[in-house]
Amino acid sequence: MKPKYFAAALIPALFATVAFAGEYDAIKTAAGAEFFDKECHRCHAVDADRASYGPLLNGVVGRKAGTFEGYPYSEALKNAGFVWTKGAIRAWMEDNDALVPGTKMRHVGVSDPTVQDFIVTYLASISE
Ligand code: HEC
Repeated sequence: MKPKYFAAALIPALFATVAFAGEYDAIKTAAGAEFFDKECHRCHAVDADRASYGPLLNGVVGRKAGTFEGYPYSEALKNAGFVWTKGAIRAWMEDNDALVPGTKMRHVGVSDPTVQDFIVTYLASISE
């Protein structure tokens, strides 16, 4: 199912079950899928069957930077030498050129911490 439709189906259901534990993360995941669609999806597929200009982001949380098999990374990201934690992904969304000078990802500048949190929660949900 496309994340957008999934989120549209999920959000009303979640607000109806407000008492359950874990529901905050589920709401953040659904919202994060929407923000991902808006800010990231045009360059990043989350489905290996689709062509993707940027590296596939499934499994990115906990993955070493610049190591998705077969993707032509910039030298800068290939040699970055760190693992994508949630914090690193937030810093990257905020200012990727500052985190890894010389990266070929265009500056996206997602600076709202709430939006960062939603997107990271969504990425973590497709990294398990
Ligand atoms: C205009 C296209 C574009 C947009 C929009 C974009 N990216 Fe990227 N992204 C790229 C490219 C290209 C790379 C590879 C950069 C390199 O090799 O230096 C990349 C790399 C990454 C990486 C590193 C992955 C790895 O395997 O090391 C992460 C994480 C990432 N992007 C997250 C995001 C997120 C989150 C968003 C939305 C907030 C986003 N990107 C929006 C093009 C884009």
